[in-house]
Amino acid sequence: MSTNSPAHTADLVVFGGTGDLSMRKLLPALYHSDRDGRLSPETRVIAMSRGGLTDADFRGKVDAEVRDQVPVDDPAMWQRFLGRLHHVSVDVGGADKSGWGALSRLLAGHEQRDRVFYLASPPRTFGPFCRELEEAGLVTPRSRVVLEKPLGHDLPSAQRINDEVGAIFDERQIFRIDHYLGKETVQNLLVLRFANAFLEPIWNSLWIDHVQITAAETVGTPGRRGYYDHAGALRDMVQNHLLQLLTLTAMEPPARNDREAIRDEKVKVLQALRPITGTEVDRFTVRGQYTEAGGMPGYLDEPASTPPTDASRRVETFTAIRAEIKNWRWAGVPFYLRTGKRMPYRRSEIVVQFKDVPHSIFPGGTPNRLVLRLQPEEGIELHIMAKEPGAGEVTLKPVPMSLSFGKTFTARVPEAYERLLTDVLAGNPTLFMRRDEVEAAWRWIDPILSTWESSGDLPEPYPAGTTGPAGAHELLGRSGRQWHEEDV
Ligand code: BG6
Repeated sequence: MSTNSPAHTADLVVFGGTGDLSMRKLLPALYHSDRDGRLSPETRVIAMSRGGLTDADFRGKVDAEVRDQVPVDDPAMWQRFLGRLHHVSVDVGGADKSGWGALSRLLAGHEQRDRVFYLASPPRTFGPFCRELEEAGLVTPRSRVVLEKPLGHDLPSAQRINDEVGAIFDERQIFRIDHYLGKETVQNLLVLRFANAFLEPIWNSLWIDHVQITAAETVGTPGRRGYYDHAGALRDMVQNHLLQLLTLTAMEPPARNDREAIRDEKVKVLQALRPITGTEVDRFTVRGQYTEAGGMPGYLDEPASTPPTDASRRVETFTAIRAEIKNWRWAGVPFYLRTGKRMPYRRSEIVVQFKDVPHSIFPGGTPNRLVLRLQPEEGIELHIMAKEPGAGEVTLKPVPMSLSFGKTFTARVPEAYERLLTDVLAGNPTLFMRRDEVEAAWRWIDPILSTWESSGDLPEPYPAGTTGPAGAHELLGRSGRQWHEEDV
């Protein structure tokens, strides 16, 4: 889990440093860290981009675009933060090598610092950047590299990227980000499971009927077609975020709270996922694409710089999958995964649905359910049956016992990126994906992708603002189950 060791002095070099991720997530997170005293006074942030900006231009841009996103209660502190920022223009893979020289000069004399190269750039640039860094002599023993998702678009491409980066950096120096792992509830899931005794005896197929993992978003994909046409919900959300949530829910208790022990257990879950292949793809997976409704455009009509293509028509903006884990603990317990754009609510949660009581003496009961809410309002709810007050017939009602982090703890809940950057700067990789994890996830995803791609079928349409296509409801309905929102 996160390290709270004193801050080392670091040079954090961000490729794609003026891009959306940097301006919306990384720089605000770094400012929060600075404000909370987690950056050493000499730590610098060096943004690399094609932009041709000077340090002063870049600081001006951050002042204009980031200041409003963060609480600036002390202008001197904000100025100190801006003072940490530098900009270097770079021409990746191009003939002009001057950017690498400029970066070398900036880093020269600081070889003893931790050096973090954060690649917030498209995955095709990962290999070339690492090679250029190596050729410029910038990779020191204290260097780390951070890779943003997507890590490839299938297993072979992920392996290629891992090989290219692995040729320059040791695995212990490579930090593969999945920002879901930085969310407070995700870490609390480990604490809930492994720091409390009562759950473990019932955390298995004897007591649990099924698990639902949902990441629903209200947003569509305006302006993202170039990326999304070739990603789709399965690559964009399931291969990484949803499978990570599944591993943490299903993993065996690790022997220690350390980087390898936890990741070893997660990999075992991915390796135990029952492959979905051939005709099973049709039975156990659903894909949908939102269409125009309620004043919202359909996927094909979202603003984009290019008109829709065949790839746009075929890409899924929603997917639901029935997964199974073939091991002693989970045999026979379906794990339903679901994610979609333009759904009626923004909600990410893990719902553990327990089995019904073995013999009911009251009419109208429903089985217990544990809901771990990642967003909005992070918290944990256990739905238990209670008697409605009143004389006469006993009437049952499910009532939530809830822990809202916002109400229980007064401290600010850090953003996922803030925690992850803190861990990168501290050199703690526990919350980052190891190579074998990423590849095991692709190994399970690939047959689904290739069956979809070869089928020629289009995704089922669903109106924007609804909970996905009919097939998603049938996926559970076939076994008499329902998605969480439908019966609460
Ligand atoms: C990203 C996806 O990884 O996660 C986006 O590329 C998605 O498509 C985002 O919107 C969701 O993250 P969060 O933290 O808002 O749930």
